[in-house]
Amino acid sequence: MCGIIGYTGHRTVVPILIGALKRMEYRGYDSAGVAVLNGALRIEKDAGKVQNLEQKIRDAQLSGQTGIGHTRWATHGAPTQLNAHPHTDDEFQIALVHNGIIENYSALRQELTKSGHEFKTETDTEVVAALIQEFYQGDFAHAVQKALKLVKGTYGLAILSVNHPGMVIAARMGSPMVIGHGDGENFVASDPTAFLHFTRDVTYLEDGEIAVVTSDKVEYRTLADEHIDKKLEQLTFDIAAIEKGGFSHFMLKEICEQPQTVADSMRGRLLIDEGTVKFGGMAAVMETLNQAKRVLFLGCGTSWHAGLVGEYLMEELAGVPAEVEYASEFRYRSPALEPGTIVFAISQSGETADTLAAIREAKRHGAPVFGICNVVGSSIARETNAGVFLHAGPEIGVASTKAFTSQITVLFMLALQMGRARRVGASRGRELVQELREIPNKISRILATREKIETIAHHYKQCRNFLYLGRGVNFPVALEGALKLKEISYIHAEGYPAAEMKHGPIALIDRDMPVVFIASKDGVYEKVLSNIEEVRARGGRVLVIATEGDQEIANHADEVVYIPSTDPLLTPLLTVIPLQLLSYYMAVQRGCDVDQPRNLAKSVTVE
Ligand code: AGP
Repeated sequence: MCGIIGYTGHRTVVPILIGALKRMEYRGYDSAGVAVLNGALRIEKDAGKVQNLEQKIRDAQLSGQTGIGHTRWATHGAPTQLNAHPHTDDEFQIALVHNGIIENYSALRQELTKSGHEFKTETDTEVVAALIQEFYQGDFAHAVQKALKLVKGTYGLAILSVNHPGMVIAARMGSPMVIGHGDGENFVASDPTAFLHFTRDVTYLEDGEIAVVTSDKVEYRTLADEHIDKKLEQLTFDIAAIEKGGFSHFMLKEICEQPQTVADSMRGRLLIDEGTVKFGGMAAVMETLNQAKRVLFLGCGTSWHAGLVGEYLMEELAGVPAEVEYASEFRYRSPALEPGTIVFAISQSGETADTLAAIREAKRHGAPVFGICNVVGSSIARETNAGVFLHAGPEIGVASTKAFTSQITVLFMLALQMGRARRVGASRGRELVQELREIPNKISRILATREKIETIAHHYKQCRNFLYLGRGVNFPVALEGALKLKEISYIHAEGYPAAEMKHGPIALIDRDMPVVFIASKDGVYEKVLSNIEEVRARGGRVLVIATEGDQEIANHADEVVYIPSTDPLLTPLLTVIPLQLLSYYMAVQRGCDVDQPRNLAKSVTVE
């Protein structure tokens, strides 16, 4: 996610801002910028890396002792110089940097445009600066409080006003903001890494709070202007730990981020009362979607597995024939794309060469192609006619985890939207939307059992082969679980449709090849149960992912990991979590390089 730094004190602010932004580079970003107060408001920002910015700042000879800085991971608007933060109001009185997603920015933008404000970027953030200026009548903190009461969504903010030199206001709703307390100087940041070199004395903002920061004072208030006292805390993390948010690896951090990232993938997109969804990036092509006669998903690796879940969801909800193809295969065969076929290219990085080539091939055949990507401004996002961003934040671990669940969330919403236009009634739609909204909490409940999964990993870490079996929408999850284990623990693992085991793989069953079953309570549960018995009858060991409350399954398994119950179509969002954790702990216990497994790259930009 984006990195935020603010400073006011006795030092020259520019080196502090630049140093802080560099220390937050690990978070992933695609543009950076600073604003400095020195009589006037001076801003320098650019797409690309912080070192590009440094040269621009030197050339501009920025100076001052109060300023803010930002590294941006684009969620709305491509990573360009114009869209980079800081953003200002149109009178250049307020400058701010933002981390999060403003859900109601288009409505606010319309209102502010009516009252004469002009906007120059595609970002949601710019609206907040205009709103603060709209309410400013001399009291900076009050203007911020009034503005933020109208904002829906998430934000971490650092704000400057040209009329209040020596002051930075920080605000928090859903995105972390921490205050660093120095001697004659104070810091605000999204991540204490930014100022840890200067002070370990910190306080934390809670949702709905602002901090009014000057060099010798920090005042905390609610948006209702109630004053709050906070106790200083001591930071004990080392830098490396902070970069991973206190987790041992980025992969574990990203697995544990999934309640938040799944929520972010649906944020601002659910029409709860209507029991459907809306995608800003697909509004212009809704007619094409509603006329579609066939859907083709393209992807590689984990994204291909997500597409396979999408195939089941699309046919089940929308009744539209769907299929998923490996992008690398599609690009070299002469695909028969009938008129009325629409294509979804799924890619976390948005740079996978095979997927990019497959998009070009599909477009060459005249099919409309839509992107489902995590990186705004990526090649695939730019080369597709429209699309949906995951809003999952940078995925740094090579093994894809949070991107997978965000891809499935988006695919579920797409299938629901197309289903509601065809055959899904409003009450079923409302039921599914409500179930989807409960998924983040249900993922949190599974994450709370991760010590049990770590213990199970101990029992199986010496095994050299695994089989993963599932049926229906959980067959792709079996494939994904096998891929996770393979790519980070280097244990051979294969995923299969559970019924396929009888057609060959059953010959492999013995005590040395554990079989992981996904046996959530759904229409094929009894069938999976008989597959489990077939394995046990041949002395195989069985690990089962089962639905809470299913005591019977424990009589048929060596290990059971439970997931909360949900609609069968949404179970992949839950059944994959224990499999991600199992592969993570096995890899750690085998001493593997979890975040950078051998031979693998995070984005395969070559054939
Ligand atoms: C998944 O854990 C792997 N890192 C890999 O299979 C990945 O999913 C694949 O390379 C596709 O990447 P993309 O989603 O960025 O296109």
